[in-house]
Amino acid sequence: MLLRIFLLLTILTQTTLAFGQQQRLANTYHRDAFSLNGYWQYIVDPYENGYYNYRYEPFDQQSQPWASAFFLNSKPKDKTDLIEYDFDKMDSLSVPGDWNSQKENLFYYEGTVWYKKSFDFVKSDATNKVFLYFGAANYKAEVYFNGKKLGTHLGGFTPFQFEISELIKDQENHLILKVDNKRVKEGVPTLNTDWWNYGGITRAVKIIETPETFISKYLIQLAPNDHSIIKGNIQITGTQKANREVTIKIPELAIHQSMNTSDTGFGSFEISSSKIELWSPNTAKLYQVEIIAGKDTITDLIGFRTIKTKGTDILLNNKSIFLKGISIHEESPIRGGRANSMEDAEVLLGHAKSLGCNFVRLAHYPHNEHMIRAADKLGLLVWEEIPVYWTIAWDNEKTYANAQNQIAEVIERDRNRASVIIWSMANETPTSAARNVFLNKLAKFTRAKDNSRLISAALEQKNYKDDPFTRTISDPFAEVVDILSFNQYIGWYDGTIEKCQKINWKITQNKPVIISEFGAGAKFGLHGEKHERWTEEYQEYLYQETLKMLDQIEQLRGVSPWILMDFKSPRRVLPEIQDNFNRKGLISEKGEKKKAFFVLKEYYESKK
Ligand code: GCU
Repeated sequence: MLLRIFLLLTILTQTTLAFGQQQRLANTYHRDAFSLNGYWQYIVDPYENGYYNYRYEPFDQQSQPWASAFFLNSKPKDKTDLIEYDFDKMDSLSVPGDWNSQKENLFYYEGTVWYKKSFDFVKSDATNKVFLYFGAANYKAEVYFNGKKLGTHLGGFTPFQFEISELIKDQENHLILKVDNKRVKEGVPTLNTDWWNYGGITRAVKIIETPETFISKYLIQLAPNDHSIIKGNIQITGTQKANREVTIKIPELAIHQSMNTSDTGFGSFEISSSKIELWSPNTAKLYQVEIIAGKDTITDLIGFRTIKTKGTDILLNNKSIFLKGISIHEESPIRGGRANSMEDAEVLLGHAKSLGCNFVRLAHYPHNEHMIRAADKLGLLVWEEIPVYWTIAWDNEKTYANAQNQIAEVIERDRNRASVIIWSMANETPTSAARNVFLNKLAKFTRAKDNSRLISAALEQKNYKDDPFTRTISDPFAEVVDILSFNQYIGWYDGTIEKCQKINWKITQNKPVIISEFGAGAKFGLHGEKHERWTEEYQEYLYQETLKMLDQIEQLRGVSPWILMDFKSPRRVLPEIQDNFNRKGLISEKGEKKKAFFVLKEYYESKK
């Protein structure tokens, strides 16, 4: 009995929830990596037969898991052996990539798919550390490596990683994932959304090898109140972390500064330079930055800028800016399905630039890192959001921990990105005491983790008292955010388009206002008179009247209309018009620009 308990404890100690207990690697984007992208064998497992025994007990919590546990990658010992699966004889899925858009018979599938990748890997130095990095997997991933459970990750849109230094072999490693995209009430997001629930290993998978003592985290930013100072900090991890010399180089600014870390491996710095060219949408200047700590060197491309609010103004580099935005879902404009490549990012953000945007709202979840890197390069300010969307289980502690972990993971990934200026806590969430506690706690956590960016959330507007033609923001969370953002659909879900001409906005908060959503559905190529739903003319007329209405809001400092492109949603089933697409895009899923595109483009041209 004792042996069983010991073995069980051994398995359990190796099973860690990737909620911050894992050593996170900084900037995997520019680290040398061994890619595991490509074809992975897969098994569709709707009954989770490869995970539970017939008594519904998880195999990976048994001291001697049955051979039928898929994570063991079992093979029959001889002709008498009973093994009822074989990854190596299965079809493949491309990673990164959702399964829905790759396989016709998985188009609507919500459940478990097992993935397997086998590979050889020889460490370049036996003392090195080895990490397994996932850009994202939607929604719940159980990760097994060479028969050992590494851990579980919840959340479909943020990176996670595990150290495998002691487990990796020179040959025949097998990495197995159980990915389950079932929607669950306590999830983040919860059961109900307006987007396609693309499941799978949706972003890159790679192996990263570092020296035993390595740079695990860093922050390099412009000082908030002095544009000639670059400041930040560096954390190194490993047996040699204490009192270690770390060097920062920014060759273009002739910066080459060294410092020593504390006994915990932490070092902070301030470097002055009179020549810093500030990053902005008009001058998206990125500097090559190099950090050297012993045998570990990291390079990054960093833009230097400041962002703050002052009264009703948003100040970028101390100058007031109007955010000419558009909302975007993470769908590939090239092949459909989840976007995951730099090519996808450049097409999507290229459309935003052609609209005259200086700002994008990446809805409703953290997008892949290529989008953020491309925004840095193209000079687009970014609103990043976690999928605390609609009717979240506000009083469930695990739900809160999941939301907090997702914002932590995206901050860790994007903390050095000049383009990211806003962390959004939520979208269209119904006010209640539990919801207010949840969001206030999340905002407090976010500010503690990153006090250099602005907090917002897409709130909802209400009638002022009983007057349906006077609208106001009475949401208590409006007192917490830095930027007051809200969605409004007057003329689509709320009355006729002419109603826009009768609305008064009563915004009492002395804060900048962003309209985070407005819009109307239109089928590209469908034409008619401007009151006919689904015509391009209806959408065009709504944009014309909405923009006139919104311009009357004195504190208006930005809009991000819904949405750049038509996108897939199971909620949108009107035949010959929607056919599983939400048609509020200014551009069809085939890249065709609707008439309203040009209304918004002209409006932005008129805004200096
Ligand atoms: C909501 C929601 C979006 C949704 C949109 C719509 O505002 O935030 O996710 O797609 O409305 O109804 O089209």
